[in-house]
Amino acid sequence: MDKLLPKSSLAKDERFRTHHMLAPFTPGGKTNPFIIDKSEGCYVYDINGKKYLDALSGLWCLSLGGSESRLIEAATAQLKKLPFYHSFFNKTTEPSLVLAKDLIQMFTARKMEKAFFVNSGSEANDTVVRLVWYYNNALGRPKKKKFIARDESYHGSTMIAASLTGIPALHEKFDLPFPFVLHTDCPHYWRYHLPGETEEEFSTRLANNLEEMILKEGPDTIAAFIAEPLMAAGGLIPPPATYFEKIQVVLKKYDILFIADEVICGFGRLGTMFGCDKYNIKPDLVTLAKALSSGYLPIGAVLVSPEISQVIDSQSQEIGGFFHGFTYSGHPVPCAVTIETLKIYREINIVDKISKISSKFQDGIRAFSESPIIGEIRGTGLIIGIEFAKNKSPNDPFPDEWAVGNYFGAQCEKLGLIVRSGGNTIMMAPSFIISPEEIDELLSIFGKALKATEERVQKRSKLKSKL
Ligand SMILES: Cc1ncc(COP(=O)(O)O)c(C=O)c1O
Repeated sequence: MDKLLPKSSLAKDERFRTHHMLAPFTPGGKTNPFIIDKSEGCYVYDINGKKYLDALSGLWCLSLGGSESRLIEAATAQLKKLPFYHSFFNKTTEPSLVLAKDLIQMFTARKMEKAFFVNSGSEANDTVVRLVWYYNNALGRPKKKKFIARDESYHGSTMIAASLTGIPALHEKFDLPFPFVLHTDCPHYWRYHLPGETEEEFSTRLANNLEEMILKEGPDTIAAFIAEPLMAAGGLIPPPATYFEKIQVVLKKYDILFIADEVICGFGRLGTMFGCDKYNIKPDLVTLAKALSSGYLPIGAVLVSPEISQVIDSQSQEIGGFFHGFTYSGHPVPCAVTIETLKIYREINIVDKISKISSKFQDGIRAFSESPIIGEIRGTGLIIGIEFAKNKSPNDPFPDEWAVGNYFGAQCEKLGLIVRSGGNTIMMAPSFIISPEEIDELLSIFGKALKATEERVQKRSKLKSKL
């Protein structure tokens, strides 16, 4: 970065703008970057020194906040001792072995046997596809290769992870999804239930639709089903009652693997150690990232069940290895930071801590549910989504051009709060260390931004009715 440039003019500098021309998910390609300069606990500061309470913990990942000295010390110590070694050709490093053992002990929804390290959630989901295909080839089932994901899910941004994702913007103009990926219903009860249908009946209908899809495609062609326990980036959608119970019965019937994408739900976010614990999911493979290292360094992991790892082991002995991996798979520095992160989670009893604080957060936001511009509030633990709509109805959204979500997000920013706004939905997932006083501050700013948004909607509605 140009040292001669005064800090405050960085955002306006054309060279800097060009650098950000392809900033990911920048609506309309606009480049007016909001430059974050430093962090402190649950707060960040922009380049002009303005302080914000970060209600999204970075990108759902800074679980221990932005200034945990133990993680910095763990990274520094590892950098001094062994800054890099790879995990190819029967070599590896101690931190990756220790971490694999830690993770396998920590995940108890179903016994896992091995951990495969990658650098992100997307790489974890790509790796899962390779593992599953290799597994089915080893079992002599070369046709059993298709994956079923869900509409509106988010699984990442590499070509395969984007294919698994069920969001059209990640497919259109990218020639995706790849044809081996099918998408089944999004389990959003509020939006998609039929008149008079209960949550349980809705779940039954979705499980029946999944079974129909499997039968239509041929069960011998379907390898796996992938799901986030609670759908996050695609709109923050918790599963309806009995959903996973019914889905798992269908998958078992046709010998289809369950992959739990725990990239956001893992490590306490939902008030249980993993999303699988919350919804009684017994997965065959699990993908992890984000809070795995509290976001301090890039790392992802795939946990593999004993049944799958045994088949992969015996096949790789025959053909000479599972030829997959990345230069930085099991990098000792992120592994060391992750070991320390998990140690802190255990020491502060993260699940207990989140369970205690989350009711203040959930109840506090839900107290705004009577607002005439809020359609639905959904979430659990330290994750919540607020969808704006007229008349409490999913069929009555505000016009896109009113940009209600963005307006609300901008009001929050003005008042010193960062939330995520996508269309008409606001999402929040603060750091796990958020204090009761910080929740009070969050709720106070939320209330003010909501009031300003209500007033703007009222003005717009009046104007519209006059036309
Ligand atoms: C559920 C889920 N899976 C996978 C990913 C992709 O992770 P990454 O951005 O680290 O590649 C994300 C990212 O937000 C995610 O939310």
